[in-house]
Amino acid sequence: MRSDRRSSRQPSSSLSLSLSRRQFLASAALVFIPVTVRAGEPFPLISQPGTAPILGSSKPATEVWTYAGQVPGPEIRARQGDRLQVNFTNRLHVATTVHWHGVRLQNEMDGVPYVTQPPVEPGASFFYEFELTDAGTFWYHPHIQSSEQVGRGLYGPLIVEEREPVRVDRELVWMLDDWRMSPDGQLAGDFDDFYDRSHEGRIGDTVTVNGIELPEETVRAGERVRLRLVNVANARFFGLRFMDHDPIVIALDGQPCEPHRPADGRVILGPAMRADVILDMSARPGGRFPVVDDYYKKKPFDLLDMVYDDAPPVRENPLDAPVTLPANPLPEPDLGAAVRHMVLLEGGSGGGMAGGTFEGQLLNLAQLADRGKAWALNGEVSSGHRMPPLLSSKLGQSVIFEMHNDTYFEHPMHLHGHSFRVLERDGEPVPNTIWQDTVNVKRNEKVQVAFVADNPGDWMFHCHILEHQEAGMMGIFRVS
Ligand code: C2O
Ligand code: CU
Repeated sequence: MRSDRRSSRQPSSSLSLSLSRRQFLASAALVFIPVTVRAGEPFPLISQPGTAPILGSSKPATEVWTYAGQVPGPEIRARQGDRLQVNFTNRLHVATTVHWHGVRLQNEMDGVPYVTQPPVEPGASFFYEFELTDAGTFWYHPHIQSSEQVGRGLYGPLIVEEREPVRVDRELVWMLDDWRMSPDGQLAGDFDDFYDRSHEGRIGDTVTVNGIELPEETVRAGERVRLRLVNVANARFFGLRFMDHDPIVIALDGQPCEPHRPADGRVILGPAMRADVILDMSARPGGRFPVVDDYYKKKPFDLLDMVYDDAPPVRENPLDAPVTLPANPLPEPDLGAAVRHMVLLEGGSGGGMAGGTFEGQLLNLAQLADRGKAWALNGEVSSGHRMPPLLSSKLGQSVIFEMHNDTYFEHPMHLHGHSFRVLERDGEPVPNTIWQDTVNVKRNEKVQVAFVADNPGDWMFHCHILEHQEAGMMGIFRVS
């Protein structure tokens, strides 16, 4: 019954299933309690065990790990230029950290164990404090045993508002996740499963938006909504279609882009990616429109329903106001003077990698598999976070990363501490001036990104399929 959202491994029956599921899932509205952080006021954040109604309120609650007792964790909302202060305390039974995904901050606040800070042991605290240079949609999550810790529910949104935002009637934040449930309604505990590690990662069977399966979002005719989408799943990609609506993408990974209609009308989000989307609610009062996810073509399903209330339209024609966001202060790379780094992505099932260097030793595939490892970057297989740098750059240098995916799977590659301009895919220029912190590299694809290495420190560079990250696909980029 619950297998309808597994990825392509199982036969499809999901559309009809999700329709019948709708009848017995109590329709739940999305509730999100934002915490507005004022500059200069420390915000307490606690990681702790808790429960969440992942299977709906009619089923027993699922044991999860939470920030502040809730999944997703509290929405931290601040203004561009504010200083964020978070007084973090760990009440889990395992060590953890908080990483502020996509935020260009100083290295010692980046939340990477052994590299930027010691792990926060059970009962201990860590004070995070940094300036929010960029406006945009970001998120926070642990950086220790990420597959298990994020997979058990540790994630929350960090929204940094522009000083002059685009005009909308309302903002919504949707955190997209999936969970792998066992028959008893609890999370399956196989977080280090080698099949997942060496294939497409831990794809779950139950998809939620803000912790709720197939929720309803109540909307009003005529209103303009800014939708902030965040993919927090370990491994699942999302490809969203807004039935009978016309989404305009205005930012990716928090960074403004030229407003554009997504290719094929579908908003695609790999793990860790975000998209800010303008949606005009152009239908009539009383309508109901599913948001369909058909990223895995054989397994389309309804993610949620947009339900129009009966109120008369707020306006008859769509709001006539610009949707271009003000740019963030990103340095423009000098492509002529840029230093080029090649990054070869290797390994995984069916990938043809012969072996790789692990803790200084050249190991073959079987020896790597014995250690739970399956992937390499430029022949290097990461063990934990502490390691010599894979790539280095002088501070202030313009840099091009040319990533070549020589594996059977796609990899959303993420760099800490910087946002990069996505230049080319297989030699074709990428339109719409896109800056990201996580870029998907498809099977056999070559992707070029460029940026200025303007942030000193040791920065993690890894695949954000969390099982791949743990199975070796991570390195350090040193800026000094
Ligand atoms: Cu979202 Cu290295 O992290
Ligand atoms: Cu990967």
